[in-house]
Amino acid sequence: MLCGAPGLLGALTALLGALLALTRSPALSCLVPAGLYLALRLFSLEPAPLPRAQHVLQPRGAAARIAHRGGSHDAPENTLAAIRQAAENGATGVELDLEFTADGVPILMHDDTVERTTNGSGSLRDLTFDEIRRLNPAAKHRLWRDFRGEKIPTLKEAVMECLQHNLVIYFDVKGHANQAVSALKLLYLEYPRLYNSSIVCSFMPDVVYKMRQADGNVLTALTHRPWSLSHFGDGKPRFNSFWKHYWYMMMDVILDWSLHNFLWHLCGVSAFLMQKNYISQEYVKQWSSKGVQVVAWTVNTFAEKMYYETVLEVSYITDSLLEDCDPHY
Ligand SMILES: *[C@@H]1O[C@H](CO)[C@@H](O)[C@H](O)[C@H]1NC(C)=O
Ligand SMILES: *[C@@H]1O[C@H](CO)[C@@H](O)[C@H](O)[C@H]1NC(C)=O
Repeated sequence: MLCGAPGLLGALTALLGALLALTRSPALSCLVPAGLYLALRLFSLEPAPLPRAQHVLQPRGAAARIAHRGGSHDAPENTLAAIRQAAENGATGVELDLEFTADGVPILMHDDTVERTTNGSGSLRDLTFDEIRRLNPAAKHRLWRDFRGEKIPTLKEAVMECLQHNLVIYFDVKGHANQAVSALKLLYLEYPRLYNSSIVCSFMPDVVYKMRQADGNVLTALTHRPWSLSHFGDGKPRFNSFWKHYWYMMMDVILDWSLHNFLWHLCGVSAFLMQKNYISQEYVKQWSSKGVQVVAWTVNTFAEKMYYETVLEVSYITDSLLEDCDPHY
């Protein structure tokens, strides 16, 4: 199975060459790729069947439009209103962020604090579901006047809303690997339709790996933005310290290499959610030869949408289905 996986052999050979050049030790240079090969053989998870992945990633047989956080420009992010609005505006799917309250209730929320989106303050770690439920998730939205009485939804409420509107769900999991995996596992058990209409995505390979270990039928995707460990989304460096900055840049190089060369295989992902600026026709082709589809994020202008949809033929995640807007990091 492994030798048949395109790209892997090339990657291992490249690693061997790089190690040989760096260390000049043939023994070490052979040992590391061999160990990696063995680990991949032993621990790689079988990817989900391609037809099912295709059905979820391109539900209408063409590039899909996915509303980022439910479409955070058109409605308050991660709310039921946003989901309804996305369906109304012609989205084929929604990307939703999974988080947990202090008492362990799975809810939709992007940040781990409530200040940016609600009229409350504090960290999710310290707020119970009852407290969270009293907040207004539309409080800071530009269209707050149109969205009164909205509540922060539970994961389950959001899923039921999406199923009702036939929207594909991209569950974005940022952390709490074990908690998230158990919550999602229960969810798939309760709503088997989700196997055909959702995908679990994360920047963190451990989340993806654990999810597929817990339930190998769940479709998954790795999310990536090159230089994300050392730089923010707007391009500013994360760290002031010179050494820290270059240390994290080196980690970025290693992460990027690992994701493209073996982590995708280890996790058995069906899709790769890539920051839009790094996607070319060649890039899409490379992934496609591995049986993995590229999804672009965040594509926010009409011209760009046309390009991704018709030239690259990749699905994209967008903040608005209605008009051009700035990215919401
Ligand atoms: C936030 O807004 C909701 C709905 O308007 C209100 O019931 C609640 O008291 C407000 N909470 C805070 C902390 O201001
Ligand atoms: C999912 O789709 C496949 C093929 O498209 C179908 O055979 C299967 O029954 C579907 N499963 C559910 C739970 O809808």
